[in-house]
Amino acid sequence: VAIEKYVTELLIPPVMPWDRRDRKTGLDSYTIGVRQFRQQILPPGQPATTVWGYGSTQHPETFNAPSFTIEAEFDQAVRVTWVNQLRDCKGNYLPHLLPVDPTLHWAYPPGGMSGRDSRPTYASTPGPYTGPVPIVTHLHGGQSSEESDGYAEAWYLPNALGIPAGYAPVGSFYRKFGEKFEERFGQGWSNGEAVFQYANRERASTLWFHDHALGITRLNVYAGLAGFYLLRGGPDDLPPGVLPGPAPKRGDAPTGRFCEIPIVIQDRSFNTDGSLFYPASRAFADGFKGPYIPGSDIPPIWNPEFFGNTLVTNGRTWPVLPVEPRRYRFRFLNGCNSRYLVLKIVADRLAHRPVPPALPFWQIGSEGGFLPAPVERDQLLIAPAERADVIVDYTSIPVGTDLYLINEGPDSAYQGGKVGTDFAPAEPRTTGQVMKFTVKPLTSPDTTVPPRHLTLPALTPIGPASRTRQVSLNEEKSARLNGVGTRAVLLGTLDPNEKPVPMRWADPITENPALGATEIWEIHNLTADAHPIHIHEVQFQVVDRQPTGQAARAPEPWENGFKDTVITYPNGVTRVRVKFDQEGRYMWHCHMLDHEDNEMMRPYHVGPLT
Ligand code: C2O
Ligand code: CU
Repeated sequence: VAIEKYVTELLIPPVMPWDRRDRKTGLDSYTIGVRQFRQQILPPGQPATTVWGYGSTQHPETFNAPSFTIEAEFDQAVRVTWVNQLRDCKGNYLPHLLPVDPTLHWAYPPGGMSGRDSRPTYASTPGPYTGPVPIVTHLHGGQSSEESDGYAEAWYLPNALGIPAGYAPVGSFYRKFGEKFEERFGQGWSNGEAVFQYANRERASTLWFHDHALGITRLNVYAGLAGFYLLRGGPDDLPPGVLPGPAPKRGDAPTGRFCEIPIVIQDRSFNTDGSLFYPASRAFADGFKGPYIPGSDIPPIWNPEFFGNTLVTNGRTWPVLPVEPRRYRFRFLNGCNSRYLVLKIVADRLAHRPVPPALPFWQIGSEGGFLPAPVERDQLLIAPAERADVIVDYTSIPVGTDLYLINEGPDSAYQGGKVGTDFAPAEPRTTGQVMKFTVKPLTSPDTTVPPRHLTLPALTPIGPASRTRQVSLNEEKSARLNGVGTRAVLLGTLDPNEKPVPMRWADPITENPALGATEIWEIHNLTADAHPIHIHEVQFQVVDRQPTGQAARAPEPWENGFKDTVITYPNGVTRVRVKFDQEGRYMWHCHMLDHEDNEMMRPYHVGPLT
């Protein structure tokens, strides 16, 4: 069934209500649950979709996918009690909405281990896991301490009935981090919830939070567990009135008119009953006769990359946003599992790709806050997890005009290059379209500063590095199927002869920077695809990219700010400069969630390993 486009207005996620704001102690407290509920993602008249979402436990109406937005202020800490409420009204645990591949290295509740020993093997033939669901929340881009970072093994189950004997309620790092939190803040954890605290000392920036449970992150995020976290104020923000605003205020209606709008774009597929579709067997991706191939070592359910056939923006398929002839600030987030987006504003949504742009984007910020200067761009290439903070100026557009946000990125993996020349663009009738803008009469004058005249807050570069560390991205083929089929995608190191040493999640720590050290990470991409590499706990600077056998290229002008995720192209190295100023256990990984869930993630440790 075709899904009708541009019938639903864009939903602007309202502000998440806090439980308490204490200015004296400088603490905002929230209790945020994760629940299962139904939501109208498809246009009215079509079936609703069962999703998972975050919400304030005191306010059932706040449960939504994507989440309501956490509005944080510089230096005012945020403490969230994240509660796993994935249980039904009788208190029984809910199984996963989507097919869990139990042969991956994942947050394995039986026994509570995330070790490789006790999981089902490729040779045995279990179906998807049907037990209770572990969760743990990560604030992406936050410079959090280890116990609040959402480490993939710090997962926990709901407090629910029906959990079989022998299932561990929490993962191996939960207690360790809980005790540390108790020591620091005098408040412990209990089963079914975790208390995380964010200091909010980072630069004003567009952060987001999402689930990070080991080996099922792709499923938990696809089910709806993601939301914006906007950090404002402090020395790295602009005074009010300079940029389009105001920000939505507490209690404003979800569809109220604002000139500053966070926009998360996610690809999804739906079954005819409105439920989310996600492949239940490896046969989906590459025709492997699943679910279990005799003699195969290929994970039978996991797919190397998933690409949905619709684009969902702020939780609605193909919405429309009425705009006035004035400037808007859009904070774009690519919230897809594996899809790269190439966004453009055009007049003709069905025109032959590439379509000439109708309006430019003025990019003012990336993951780590404002860029040193605005950058005018005809199109935005955004990898999964990257953010682009942009101004779009509709001032010259006549009332009554319709404009479209389209996507010219590929409907498949991305290797770099140009649309139409190096890769085929997304299907123009479906994933090649994102949303529509209709220009309405101006209701009040626009007094914001035109983007080309904006002066952005100064940026203090990271100092010189004390060492260069070489790391590698590797694809592991099946050992038993004559090299056919991706078994996993691995991070790793390089040996002294520059030979890759692929490593798995469970291998010993190899990245162990000293506390306070600045390092260059030289990321060697030995695979065929571009991977967005994310390092937790830091905002780094891109140094350069060097294709094999060529000279190094400077970062793109829009990469001259701070970033937490960087596109690493095949056949070359990408260098980033990173300062590690917080002790503890973190992770770095590919942010194509399908890769991250199958070994393309490594722990790293800052400071002495004990
Ligand atoms: Cu957005 Cu480790 O994640
Ligand atoms: Cu990847």
